[in-house]
Amino acid sequence: MSRLKDTFGRTIDDLRISLTDRCNFRCIYCMPAEGLPWLPRREILTYEEILHLARIFIGLGIHTIRLTGGEPLMRQDVEVLIAGLLRLDATLDLSMTTNGFFLVEKVQRLADAGLKRINVSLDSLRPERFERMVRRDGQLVSKILAGIRLAREAGLNPIKLNCVIMRGYNDDEIADFARLGREQDVQVRFIEYMPLDAQGRWTMDTVVPGAEIHARVHAVYPLRSEQGNGSEPATVHHFADGRGSIGIIASVSQPFCESCNRVRITADGHLRTCLFSLTEHDLKGLLRSGASDEDLADFIIATVWKKEAGHKINQPDFVKPDRSMSAIGG
Ligand code: 5AD
Ligand code: SF4
Repeated sequence: MSRLKDTFGRTIDDLRISLTDRCNFRCIYCMPAEGLPWLPRREILTYEEILHLARIFIGLGIHTIRLTGGEPLMRQDVEVLIAGLLRLDATLDLSMTTNGFFLVEKVQRLADAGLKRINVSLDSLRPERFERMVRRDGQLVSKILAGIRLAREAGLNPIKLNCVIMRGYNDDEIADFARLGREQDVQVRFIEYMPLDAQGRWTMDTVVPGAEIHARVHAVYPLRSEQGNGSEPATVHHFADGRGSIGIIASVSQPFCESCNRVRITADGHLRTCLFSLTEHDLKGLLRSGASDEDLADFIIATVWKKEAGHKINQPDFVKPDRSMSAIGG
């Protein structure tokens, strides 16, 4: 049972660790075309430091760890970190969110090291669209799909495909993605566009509400009426004919903050208690100044205790965090 609790009665047992703020893609909902000023390498947690912190978090009851970025596979030898994390706790639910670029070459090593599951981001199946949204060569779509197939063969199941839907960009591909999910046996998770883009271009008009996404899938591939979600942010909807399911992450139109069970560590070692936090807590500073494990644990417990109620996207006093998704860790 996790010892990490907050004042709203939530128990925190899920940790996201960003391995780097760097990324080789430039998704419009995340980064500017020219990239961002990357963190200097000395500011990035070493694998040794990540393992040290992970050991403390696991001791406090964290049972799920997701490795994120930026693009986590930009970091060398991620399999070394994976193996190290599993040495701390072999039963850890350890997964990764990746843009898929390096999967073809790296996925077998990740699976061999013990990674359990994988989420791959893909927002368009049409090369010219992909180029507009990701600002990279459209031919990469087939490379990413090949990587997903290899991930399945390597046993990283269930595979989830994250698809950020933006009105006027890819909302006409919703049914295509549902079909892909059915044919390839992956769960496509449609994500509402959130105000976490570096350029502050987000507007409510560009958000396609989860209910509309549901209706568009249901019109082509009927979905059963009941849904299940557990502690996942995605509501899961099964196809009526039994051929799998989709997920819908309606962070904007139907916030799920009251059941949130997660915190994040940024690549530079700051603890964030919410994607939309306006303050961060400097774990790395404490670690590098030689704090004891007990001091680190006390700091983590006290920080998590003050986790904010939730985001205020739909409220007039909403303030967008300074960091983009790539710098926070998805
Ligand atoms: N809104 C919604 N999802 C986003 N992601 C990145 N930026 C945004 C945003 N502004 C997604 C990525 C990836 C996950 C880590 O977060 O597509 O799948
Ligand atoms: Fe890179 Fe992910 Fe941001 Fe796209 S969303 S630019 S893949 S960090």
